[in-house]
Amino acid sequence: MTPPHAGSRSNGQATSRGSEADGEPTIDVRLDAREWQEARDAEVRRGLSADQPWLSPVWFYDEHGSDLFDEITRLPEYYQTRAERRLLEDHAPELAEHGVVTMVELGSGTSDKTEVILDALVESGRLRTYVPFDVSEATLRQAIDRLRVRYPGLRFHGVVGDFHRHLGAIPEGGPRLVAFLGGTIGNLRPAERKRFLFDLDCALERQDLVLIGIDLVKEPARIVSAYDDSRGVTAAFNRNALTVLDRELHADLDPDDFEHVARWNEDERWIEMRLRARRPVHASVADLDLTIDLRPGEDLLTEISAKFSPEGFAAELWESGFEEVETWVSEGEEFGLVLARPYC
Ligand code: SAH
Ligand code: TRP
Repeated sequence: MTPPHAGSRSNGQATSRGSEADGEPTIDVRLDAREWQEARDAEVRRGLSADQPWLSPVWFYDEHGSDLFDEITRLPEYYQTRAERRLLEDHAPELAEHGVVTMVELGSGTSDKTEVILDALVESGRLRTYVPFDVSEATLRQAIDRLRVRYPGLRFHGVVGDFHRHLGAIPEGGPRLVAFLGGTIGNLRPAERKRFLFDLDCALERQDLVLIGIDLVKEPARIVSAYDDSRGVTAAFNRNALTVLDRELHADLDPDDFEHVARWNEDERWIEMRLRARRPVHASVADLDLTIDLRPGEDLLTEISAKFSPEGFAAELWESGFEEVETWVSEGEEFGLVLARPYC
């Protein structure tokens, strides 16, 4: 299975529905707490027992992790967020020409950059509903609370779910625009990515559109510094995964025993986030009855972030049933935004 990221605060209870008339947001909670926990535990067991141990990225985005990620997006070295925002600002008017009625955002997080799109779509006069979709319920609710004030005429329909399993929760009401920003698609493994795009194609109709942000292949040093910043924010974000694991599964890994490493993998064209043992590590995960032994210099792989070429990504989209409508590339060819539609 695929690791859904964090959000252990999801209650697994069904939907809190505001009626459309009273303007209250709808929150559709698709994550079942027990199922989620079981999948998460299996994932940790599998990763930590592997020959090349890895830690599921499921642990990054607790409340503190989400704050750290927010800080990452503002780092001088992290060019992605600025480049993507700029592309959105330049091309939002073109997006508004497609008569979008429902805007969906997968992995929406704080929905910060989304405002650029929403401004243009609201102005077009067609947009009725915004659908943020994230595993983290707290982050999603905060985003809706903020956006409701800014867009009083808009309906909000949040989905607390895993985009690997719950795309069926995307509400009707086309044409829909499904945005997947922040280069998050690069955090999926190639096979996972293919499956995800295929599922997305199945969930959509001919008149719908997808808008996907991809980070582009470039000089490795520039990529590495985006994931190993001078202030150590990314290092803190990476190590925080251990703090969350300790808390949630009663493990006793000491984050200080690990050094943050960002390594460019030239063959796979992805950057790897690793936690490298500084000294011999002998730790346990009490809830899973599991022990971990690492030699100094041995790594836990925590995340990958793949980089793309516009042509390569267009080919992947095509294989999964989409046709490219437009590709916008930022100045200096740092980041790309791809608009595509299901071709049948
Ligand atoms: N879109 C924002 C946030 C990116 S961070 C931006 O561009 O800055 C990635 C977000 O995806 C986090 O909010 C995380 O909680 C969410 N996420 C990660 N895996 C997910 C999954 N499997 N299903 C749904 N949301 C997921
Ligand atoms: N989607 C972001 C990216 O791949 C997530 C991210 C940024 C990230 N910095 C990170 C994930 C550091 C793990 C560690 O760029």
